[in-house]
Amino acid sequence: MKYLAAFALWPALLLAANSGRSCNPRHSNIHVRYPPTVQPDPSWKAPPYAWLFGHWHPTYTSFEGYLNLWNIGADLYPRWPTTHQEAELRQTLDLTSYNMPPTGNATADAVVYTAFGLDTPAPEIGSAVFNFSGQNSWHLTNYYMLLAWGEDTAGDDYWVQYETPPEIDGVLTPDYVIAIVSRNPNGPSRPTLDAIFDTLNCTFGNEPRGQLSKLAKNLHPTHFDGRRNQSDIPACDEACVQNAWMAAQPH
Ligand SMILES: *[C@@H]1O[C@H](CO)[C@@H](O)[C@H](O)[C@H]1NC(C)=O
Ligand SMILES: *[C@@H]1O[C@H](CO)[C@@H](O)[C@H](O)[C@H]1NC(C)=O
Ligand SMILES: *[C@@H]1O[C@H](CO)[C@@H](O)[C@H](O)[C@H]1NC(C)=O
Ligand SMILES: *[C@@H]1O[C@H](CO)[C@@H](O)[C@H](O)[C@H]1NC(C)=O
Repeated sequence: MKYLAAFALWPALLLAANSGRSCNPRHSNIHVRYPPTVQPDPSWKAPPYAWLFGHWHPTYTSFEGYLNLWNIGADLYPRWPTTHQEAELRQTLDLTSYNMPPTGNATADAVVYTAFGLDTPAPEIGSAVFNFSGQNSWHLTNYYMLLAWGEDTAGDDYWVQYETPPEIDGVLTPDYVIAIVSRNPNGPSRPTLDAIFDTLNCTFGNEPRGQLSKLAKNLHPTHFDGRRNQSDIPACDEACVQNAWMAAQPH
């Protein structure tokens, strides 16, 4: 899931989800690495190639802009290569989809918005690091990278990601992001979530580089209200691939 162009932001009313915990990680099997853009960690193991593919939900985020997007889905699939060079790039199709906040107008509330881009592995920075590039009408690029990944105590996979500030229409924005992404719209199971928060705080609690301390302490749950429960995975037609609706948005 990528940083999306800023829409009207709601006031930051939500409490930090990880307040009041101590530096005492309960699950020693969660290995949160430093973002390779800040400090390499050769002992960290990336997931297998295909592990990231399929349907996910960003369920916690440090970026307020995401809190105005409801029922967010993230779909990652391998790009079918047509040349030898493309095959070597191993690019991933990256589709984010969401609703706007509910208005009570059923027609408007059913609209699913999409944001389509390509992920290109960036092994020169580190393993499980991707150059994200919005396609066509969406002129946004940044790097995202996994900090941790695994299976929660309920058997659902999750990962923790870090994003560098995106360049939008050639202008560098200020926001780094940490997010927790899960196969389950409710997010990782409670014991695993507690362990992730604890481990993030213990690893980054006093770390000024890359805004890590600030981000780790400001993870908010994203909104899910069941509007997309019956049709969670969107089709991506030509208008979607072109990010056509974004062309009309103010930046
Ligand atoms: C975060 O970790 C620090 C130690 O790095 C600890 O002193 C503090 O209590 C923890 N804070 C929270 C909110 O868990
Ligand atoms: C409901 O939303 C649709 C789609 O945005 C719009 O065309 C319609 O006028 C709205 N209806 C009312 C009663 O506001
Ligand atoms: C990602 O790759 C594209 C194409 O090479 C490049 O234009 C863009 O600047 C890269 N993004 C970042 C954040 O470096
Ligand atoms: C939608 O699905 C989620 C996850 O399975 C569930 O927790 C939630 O209750 C469902 N909501 C509705 C309105 O069906």
